[in-house]
Amino acid sequence: MPREIITIQTGQCGNQIGNEFWSHLCAEHGICADGTLEEYATEGVDRKDVFFYQADDDHYIPRTILLDLEPRVINNILQSRYANLYNPENIYTTEQGSGAGNNWAMGYSQGEKIWEDILDIVDRETENSDSLEGFSLLHSIAGGTGSGLGSFILERMSDRYEKKLLQTYSVFPNNEDTSDVVVQPYNSLLTLRRLTENADCVTVLDNAALNRIVADRLHIQNPDFVQTNQLAKAIRKTTVLDVMRRLLQSKNKMVSTATTKKNCYISILNIIQGEADPTEVHKSLLRIRERCAEQMIPWGPASIQVALSKKSPYVQTSHRVSGLMIANHTSIASLFKRTVDQYDRLRKRNAFLDMYKREAIFSDGLEEFDDSR
Ligand code: GTP
Repeated sequence: MPREIITIQTGQCGNQIGNEFWSHLCAEHGICADGTLEEYATEGVDRKDVFFYQADDDHYIPRTILLDLEPRVINNILQSRYANLYNPENIYTTEQGSGAGNNWAMGYSQGEKIWEDILDIVDRETENSDSLEGFSLLHSIAGGTGSGLGSFILERMSDRYEKKLLQTYSVFPNNEDTSDVVVQPYNSLLTLRRLTENADCVTVLDNAALNRIVADRLHIQNPDFVQTNQLAKAIRKTTVLDVMRRLLQSKNKMVSTATTKKNCYISILNIIQGEADPTEVHKSLLRIRERCAEQMIPWGPASIQVALSKKSPYVQTSHRVSGLMIANHTSIASLFKRTVDQYDRLRKRNAFLDMYKREAIFSDGLEEFDDSR
């Protein structure tokens, strides 16, 4: 029984990382850019149906919905080699196409206006699955569409699909880059409230950390989004223990938090992919448990889990084993603090508030900001 996952990608960032995600998934499952199967991939025993459905015997379509308030990014996708991959009925851009102007409130208000149309698509996709696991939202929290429309969608979806998992992949802005969206602290704070209240699981990817990894690893100083978005699993080494050890190193983390001695892991999941002997995995896990003991929460048992996964036979790699760590770490609080500090500085000057006050949610006052803070 498949446990299907429906993806919703919103705004520039959401659609760009979404397209990159689908191109990887297609390669791993032997699916061509137009959704047909590669000749060598017909015998596969893989589980394509979690992320794709079949239009016919050899034609796969991603379970994804592309949303934007301006057509540019989606048009780029439709002019790329992936033009025929997506279901055209799952693509929604507004006609006037001016985007949300980096204004969370505008993205949120637009959500209210177009919700019926979005819901039609979401419901159709949902009916298309046998045993739906949940939804993944891909977006950035700094602009106007991914943050504002994304927030609106989270609120409505958590209400309508209460029993389904609602997870997000949320791109946080690069705080070290002053050319990034100037009102991002407003947009981020308002979105963080929805991520906290309406999502079951949030994977934070922050652009400061992503840029640092690209610069260090790939030796590219000012990476563009294409290069940043292609960064897949950061760690590639030969033994399971080595992979697990490197996954714990700060320099490999895709989020830049300030870590102090007081910070600790709440839980860790290591996904090990490739040729890993279960005995080797078990031994490595014991070593890692010992090594991490002091970095784990003192108020409960250390939760370090390992999941083993197969490597795609269709993607050539030079390494035997690779790994991905997903962790819950208390230092994430420093990221929230940074957002709140930046918000306080802007708000003290009442800077750039006019464009927010024009939208319904702020027409009676700025309580929404205060509540979110
Ligand atoms: P509007 O432009 O206001 O309609 O909203 P939007 O949601 O389309 O804006 P966007 O997604 O561009 O949000 C801006 C933030 O996203 C900034 O922090 C950018 O650095 C970041 N961003 C935009 N595109 C990408 C991308 O492809 N990859 C990554 N990692 N970050 C991106």
